[in-house]
Amino acid sequence: MVSRIIPVDPFDLIIFGGTGDLARRKILPGLFRRFCAGQMPNNARIIGAARSTLSAEQYKAQIGTAISEFGNVTGNQAKQLNAFLAQLDYVKIDVKGEDGWRNLASKVRKNFVNAHYFSVAPSLFGDIAKRLNHWQIATPDSRIVVEKPFGRDLESSQKLNASLAAQFDEGQIYRIDHYLGKETVQNLMAVRFGNVLFEPLWNAQYIDHIQITVAETVGVGGRGAYYDTSGAMRDMVQNHLMQLLCLIAMEPPARFDPDAVRDEKLKVIRALGDVKPHEIVRGQYDGALDAQSYRQDVENPRSFTESYLCLKAHIENWRWSGVPFYLRTGKKLKERSSEIAIVFKKLPHSIFKDSGEAKNNVLAIRLQPNEGMTMDVTIKEPGPGGMRLIQLPLDMTFSEVLGDTAHDAPDAYERLIMDVIRGNQTLFMRGDEVEAAWTWTDPIINAWEARNDVPKIYETGSSGPDDANLLMDRDGRQWRDIT
Ligand code: NDP
Ligand code: BG6
Repeated sequence: MVSRIIPVDPFDLIIFGGTGDLARRKILPGLFRRFCAGQMPNNARIIGAARSTLSAEQYKAQIGTAISEFGNVTGNQAKQLNAFLAQLDYVKIDVKGEDGWRNLASKVRKNFVNAHYFSVAPSLFGDIAKRLNHWQIATPDSRIVVEKPFGRDLESSQKLNASLAAQFDEGQIYRIDHYLGKETVQNLMAVRFGNVLFEPLWNAQYIDHIQITVAETVGVGGRGAYYDTSGAMRDMVQNHLMQLLCLIAMEPPARFDPDAVRDEKLKVIRALGDVKPHEIVRGQYDGALDAQSYRQDVENPRSFTESYLCLKAHIENWRWSGVPFYLRTGKKLKERSSEIAIVFKKLPHSIFKDSGEAKNNVLAIRLQPNEGMTMDVTIKEPGPGGMRLIQLPLDMTFSEVLGDTAHDAPDAYERLIMDVIRGNQTLFMRGDEVEAAWTWTDPIINAWEARNDVPKIYETGSSGPDDANLLMDRDGRQWRDIT
């Protein structure tokens, strides 16, 4: 299969927080891979900006080390590292004051696309936005890129959006949800809207329920202080899982263009119904053997924050009436495994009475690892002995069917940053989507806080708390195995 790399236009990308964790682990290694793939033009420039006192040479050395550590650099790419680093520059700046802005303004080229990545705490977003205009660095064509969390509730997200809207048009604001940049997430749209097979079945008449799982083996890492004030609902469900749900549930947009897609997603979020207390299970991991507990990890012995959450969501519209969407995510679970499973209804009548029961067809879209899709179908077990039914998957593991094309595909951050430079907002969240998501999430969080909900304990390396199974048992259903 031919890989088609289309170089983007020359650009200046300014990374505020260019010395931070996200810049070193994700943004710059991602840009380096795009450079190696030939997508980044030679006259593009990346300017790191932070308070640390560093010369441009010291910054390049720091980033070179980070790329070697986090960039999955192969032998051939290592040779290109110096050429990539030559395109980097550094500005010492305090985004809350005026230090460094004049210097930055003198470096940013007005005749090229300029994009500003706010890889800093959200409390600094407003300061940067204001000063970009005050120092006349931004042009009407500039883009700003902001990272989650977009607030911690509706009110704070409205304030954050207002502080950005005071300086930039919505068409210039790129809110990153890196799940939207994942290859298989986009494939979800290709499968749904690029085949005649699925769309006629994509509704309450044929679908029994949907399971969305994002299981992680990692814990809170070095982000304990942030995570403990956030928890799985704010960190994962309000954004990543919500976006997946939207892509599955939305009506076909008229065109694959930013506002057409985002309008449809917004309608889904607005159609989400209440979640009752018995439809939600919060969990917190405890250490197994010599593993640390969540409370030790976040250094808060009295924490009641959830590191696991599952819930049953309802979309109150014609297409999805009566079809539950079960969402589940957690840290320190037994496997890293993210998938969306569309579980179809059983047959209305089986003609194979004595041949074993035909099971539900399941379309499973695997986000990570081993990206791909399987469709469980019922077939006759080969051989003599009459008609015996078994279920087997039609298996489309991308690395097997697509080979190097799948392997070389850009990761989420790489793709999204290139989309910013191209000016394509399809895979970014609009302000009204974020606010609608909080409108649904806030009452759920408020309700568990009001009843002093205590998360159920689960063992590190398990599938989550036992109560999560009860949620399914009550409905006569089962979670799929986390494998
Ligand atoms: P870090 O704390 O590692 O980095 C923060 C950066 O901001 C540093 O480069 C720091 O540099 C700079 N900074 C802080 N204050 C100022 C200031 N007044 N003026 C200029 N620069 C300043 O944070 P992360 O990289 O982890 O996170 C950045 C953003 O990305 C946050 O919004 C976070 O929530 C979000 N995010 C992070 C993820 C991750 O995996 N790390 C994942 C998803 C989102 P210096 O001290 O030199 O000024
Ligand atoms: C981030 C969350 O947005 O996504 C982290 O803040 C989480 O807590 C991460 O670990 C998961 O991303 P991925 O791409 O590793 O599934």
